[in-house]
Amino acid sequence: MTVHPPLPLLLLLLLLLLPLPPVQGCQKGAWATGYLTADLPSVSVKPGDSFSCACCALCHQNPTCASLSFSPATGECRLHSTVAGYDTLTPDNSWKYFVMPGRSQHHQFCRQDSDCLVKGDFCRGRVCTNQTAVTCRVIYQTFGAADRFGNYISPMFGWLNNTGVLLACRMGSKDEGYTRIFRSYGGKAFDRETMFQYNSELTEDVQHSMLYLADHLRHAGTEDTYQLKVHPELYSGYFYAVIDFQVPRAEPVLSDVPRPGVGSLQTSSNFLRFRWTMTMPYVPAASYLSVELYVDVPAR
Ligand SMILES: *[C@@H]1O[C@H](CO)[C@@H](O)[C@H](O)[C@H]1NC(C)=O
Ligand SMILES: *[C@@H]1O[C@H](CO)[C@@H](O)[C@H](O)[C@H]1NC(C)=O
Repeated sequence: MTVHPPLPLLLLLLLLLLPLPPVQGCQKGAWATGYLTADLPSVSVKPGDSFSCACCALCHQNPTCASLSFSPATGECRLHSTVAGYDTLTPDNSWKYFVMPGRSQHHQFCRQDSDCLVKGDFCRGRVCTNQTAVTCRVIYQTFGAADRFGNYISPMFGWLNNTGVLLACRMGSKDEGYTRIFRSYGGKAFDRETMFQYNSELTEDVQHSMLYLADHLRHAGTEDTYQLKVHPELYSGYFYAVIDFQVPRAEPVLSDVPRPGVGSLQTSSNFLRFRWTMTMPYVPAASYLSVELYVDVPAR
């Protein structure tokens, strides 16, 4: 006599054996505005923001389509057989760029791990990579963004301490990928509680602190030293001073004792009352004062 498993169990087994439906839809990668040169036949849909869906549907119908660029102004829908990375996308606010699931090669844009085709790659900072940290410098150098995305960008998608994080990056040719970890502007009084993690969603780009991740940034690099840059800013765009110096990799970004050989910047004027020790930011309430602390990993 054969024993039949009960029907609900059979149904459950059947469900488990069925392949999961692929994640559908066109998704935003690490950079959502820009275009690639069309390499599959280009098509036209109606102009307008909402017609990106029509363009997406056309991409779905073409088995070789891996991504698309859509111009809401003209209705031009470009289909691509590859997925862009920071090194190949042309950033342009008048274009929208979408990625199809499961089509991304090494250092191309993605949304989830299953999008990455290369063994050992994971979707980190919305890029398929085997890097364990994605900092502004990784985006600049390793992912090849360089200064094509503008000097100051906020936010960009990063990856630190095994989790996604939004980064404010300096991406100019002189800065080459500094990650901002602290910014006080207009006399925002940080206290010891808000000092370490403030506005970490980067919903506005003025006040910001991710000092809690400072040492994760430090550990992202392997060279003997790393770079710290301090921008005290008196008025927007006017830098009173820039201090740019190297710190031994083994030394934490923050500590309670002064850093030997670096000392502190102290200044006082009608406009600016400011004291910064290289060990711990101390920012008294003052108008028109902004302090930006950048960590550059790895050091040049
Ligand atoms: C990361 O991926 C690249 C390219 O596939 C490969 O050359 C490199 O060895 C990998 N590094 C590690 C640590 O797996
Ligand atoms: C890093 O991640 C671990 C595990 O999720 C967590 O416990 C820890 O608090 C995180 N560290 C920071 C500085 O956020």
